[in-house]
Amino acid sequence: MGYERMDTQFVTVDSGITEEAPSKELEAASEILKQGGLVAFPTETVYGLGGDALNPDASMKIYAAKGRPSDNPLIVHIADEMDLQKIAKDIPEAAYKLMDVFWPGPMTMIFHKQPIVPDSTTGGLDTVAVRMPSHNVAYELIRRSGVMIAAPSANTSGRPSPTSASHVKEDMNGKIDMIIDGGDCRYGIESTIIDMTGEVPTILRPGYITREMIEDVIGAVEIDPAISGESMTARPKAPGMKYTHYAPKGIMYIVEGESTNTVIRCINRMVKERQVAGCKVGVLATRYNAMAYEADEVIVIGDKEDELMISSNLYRSLREFDARGVDYIYSESFAGTGLGTAIMNRLLKAAGHRVIEALNV
Ligand code: TXA
Ligand code: MG
Repeated sequence: MGYERMDTQFVTVDSGITEEAPSKELEAASEILKQGGLVAFPTETVYGLGGDALNPDASMKIYAAKGRPSDNPLIVHIADEMDLQKIAKDIPEAAYKLMDVFWPGPMTMIFHKQPIVPDSTTGGLDTVAVRMPSHNVAYELIRRSGVMIAAPSANTSGRPSPTSASHVKEDMNGKIDMIIDGGDCRYGIESTIIDMTGEVPTILRPGYITREMIEDVIGAVEIDPAISGESMTARPKAPGMKYTHYAPKGIMYIVEGESTNTVIRCINRMVKERQVAGCKVGVLATRYNAMAYEADEVIVIGDKEDELMISSNLYRSLREFDARGVDYIYSESFAGTGLGTAIMNRLLKAAGHRVIEALNV
């Protein structure tokens, strides 16, 4: 299905907006949602492309604007825990414990769905993904419109998720009714997804809320083998995790090695080879190492010790390589623990799992 070309309105809403503050911008956005239209809005993770989750036409429009396969379900965003029972059933005790600690915030849970949720929102599944965002603009938009908002990340399918309104504009201008600018997203990678429908809760997508944080609240959980990197053949339970995703236009490699110097030497050698072949080459580097690279475009993703900084800059950096037109990107690798798990998960997907082991030569 195609989309109709339309005029997209741009508005700004202060990220510090309170419950009492009047906002004619949020009023206009609410009206669009109630009429079945689409509004992109900021969340603490990435920008979302929102429509009325209970209106099948709105979900169809979301798939069309993103160019996304319609078997890939959407997350329903709520602002009131009382709304959860309207869309989900068989909610286990553990889910309430997690909600108490992590909602509103960057955590999505999967439940069996109520019949009221249309198949087009859940991609035909009998389960529904739900999250309560903490970003004031997202929260106030849901609360003021009275609409439960289905929202995938507001990127064109396959591109890196947007972490600023200008990224949304690159992908969605002319395809949706409104874009709300609420500043840069704090975490910069999508929410942690936990499937609550099985015996043992299972993490389907790593995010800012880590396995360790979840286990502190509800005890042992599992990780979908398709995302842990242990299995290259397992089929991910979150349909969206199977698509090539988050990918920049250039071909990307992740370089691992015993020492920083080994990695730097290896990357510089590969950069030189590509340049000799006439290619434009980029390196995704941590701040301290950046000066050591001899590439055409070196982008600093952040300080190695500051994982939140790295996650919040990740997609922005990949989009920046696109803007600079590089053919190849070499990236340093990151620790596979804590928030590093989510960072590596997104980088590996962006690189199509191309990993190079740097040798000590
Ligand atoms: O942080 C986020 O979660 C952002 C912001 C906008 O809230 N949203 C987001 O949505 O990342 P999206 O559509 O880009 O990713 C949703 C993921 C997809 O991989 C999808 O397959 C999975 O969630 N998903 C949604 N409903 C599901 C379900 N019922 N069962 C399994 N996976 C589901
Ligand atoms: Mg997405």
